[in-house]
Amino acid sequence: PAPASGATTGPATVTTLPGVRVARPRHYLMCRPTHFEVTYAINPWMDPTGEPVDTDLAMRQWEGLRDAYRALGHTVDVIEGVPGLPDMVFAANGALVVDGKVLGASFLAAERQPEGPAYLEWLRATGMFSDFGSTSTVNEGEGDFLDLDTVLLAGTGFRTSRMAHGEAQEFFGKPVISLQLVDPSYYHLDTAIAVLGDHDIAYYPGAFSPGSNAVLRRMFPDAITVDADEAATFAMNSVSDGKHVVVPVESVRFAAALRERGYDPVPVELSEFKKSGGGPKCCTLELRS
Ligand code: ARG
Repeated sequence: PAPASGATTGPATVTTLPGVRVARPRHYLMCRPTHFEVTYAINPWMDPTGEPVDTDLAMRQWEGLRDAYRALGHTVDVIEGVPGLPDMVFAANGALVVDGKVLGASFLAAERQPEGPAYLEWLRATGMFSDFGSTSTVNEGEGDFLDLDTVLLAGTGFRTSRMAHGEAQEFFGKPVISLQLVDPSYYHLDTAIAVLGDHDIAYYPGAFSPGSNAVLRRMFPDAITVDADEAATFAMNSVSDGKHVVVPVESVRFAAALRERGYDPVPVELSEFKKSGGGPKCCTLELRS
């Protein structure tokens, strides 16, 4: 007869210890950066008069990110960019997809407003989703909403409105925790918090108000936190599948902290996208069925 619980099977029991991470296959949507450039400034990283985006390099870096996901066994769908929408490459802002329900985005900047309908059209055409919702105020999709198993974390202060947090809670039937962003360089929640697992995050405390820091400490007392220098590498804009964490190659100290906790960092080079204030997570929209 097989041993009952593994108590006598030796090393196999380590799989139940905390720190052993389990990957879950993901479905991502990415937007090809054919029309990516920096022609306006809507966050402090963007300088239309600065060093221009190297379009070929941006394409190679984007392909590197896509291929990294595929090598990890994830599904990556691709939406083509639209001429005149240089920021459409930041797919995370295109919508919020949780439990097979799609909440369409509504952008603050006039320059980005047409991206919402473009993503919705693609998502509708897949036939994968039947439940579509929208908000009456600004909501920049997964850039400002992070899905954990039992709650959504939501950012406000620069883009997504607090009212949209309530509308998202109503639409998904999932509690929404509102967090106040205070540093303009970390204008979207996904530049300040990295979701590592269903109940595990990393964050940059400097991006949040005192009250929101207290909320984060209360909910995630053991979270990895990063300092200002590490945050500036876009470390918090990482993408985890529960075990492998796709991180900017510059985020060396964050990668070490991840390894210490049993995660497997996968470094990617995305320098061209940083010129627009984006990293791996910004280029990625997760489609959760
Ligand atoms: N240039 C874009 C903007 O400022 C970058 C968006 C980054 N996306 C993100 N999910 N953080 O809107």
